[in-house]
Amino acid sequence: MGILDGKKGLIFGVANDRSIATGVAKSCHAHGASLAFTHLPGDKNLRRVSQATKELDPLFLEPCDVTEEGSIKAIFEKAKSEMGQIDFVVHSLAFANRDDLVKPFSQTSKEGFELALNVSAYSLIEMAREYVAVQPDGPGSLMTMTYLGSVMAVPNYNVMGVAKAALESSVRYLALDLGEKNIRVNAISPGPIRTLAAMAVGDFGKMLDHATEKTPLKRTVDQSEVGETAAFFASDMSSGITGEITYVDAGYNIVG
Ligand SMILES: NC(=O)c1ccc[n+]([C@@H]2O[C@H](COP(=O)([O-])OP(=O)(O)OC[C@H]3O[C@@H](n4cnc5c(N)ncnc54)[C@H](O)[C@@H]3O)[C@@H](O)[C@H]2O)c1
Repeated sequence: MGILDGKKGLIFGVANDRSIATGVAKSCHAHGASLAFTHLPGDKNLRRVSQATKELDPLFLEPCDVTEEGSIKAIFEKAKSEMGQIDFVVHSLAFANRDDLVKPFSQTSKEGFELALNVSAYSLIEMAREYVAVQPDGPGSLMTMTYLGSVMAVPNYNVMGVAKAALESSVRYLALDLGEKNIRVNAISPGPIRTLAAMAVGDFGKMLDHATEKTPLKRTVDQSEVGETAAFFASDMSSGITGEITYVDAGYNIVG
């Protein structure tokens, strides 16, 4: 018996085989869940996401750019009509202009600020709204991916740190808001993992080396370890947990 037997999940954020969302999908599938996925519009993106999810028998693959008006709403309506129950939703996406992840933070443009906050944080609020709209009585579990740069000034993380601070605060307010509907909202905060998005952060290799040296476990984490934690949050085993930020970082955040 898998902890997610009979459960259905909707996953935003697979770009390729290295995506954290792919690790989440593999774990959830291994624990018994059926899954639907979104991908950024475009044939190339569809090909990569099809490749990354081909062993997972996707219920559907549907394009979604969270900055496009009505895009998130359309996905939730499709998911509800095709899946019936949406037991869990994974928000594993973020974006900032590369410029804003290498230049001094004080040089962040207003446009770059708005873009990062819109894609990386506001999209979670919109997903929560559309989740409740199609499933007003729950139950459900919504989870997102954050990073330590939200609460500490991590070199080069810059505007993405501000976006993650907004995201984490949104997790708490959404948990309070959606609790009555029996929808839980949580965040996982992984340590650095080599993915497409991570490569945009200046000196990312140094972050990996530093993490390996400093963590209590003396190593970094991988997508499958984040995936196993996500499977726990998707399952009834976490039924008493909402509004939490859970670190999956080999202990990096507790070291002074
Ligand atoms: N890799 C790390 O070190 C690390 C650490 C902590 C947190 N995270 C977070 O994990 C999440 C997933 O990132 P990842 O590292 O797997 O990288 P990734 O590049 O594989 O995934 C990022 C995803 O964001 C999606 N995306 C970007 N703009 C979008 C838009 N406008 N509409 C819809 N989707 C959009 C991309 O398509 C991609 O699937 C992000 O929130 C990231 O900040 C990553």
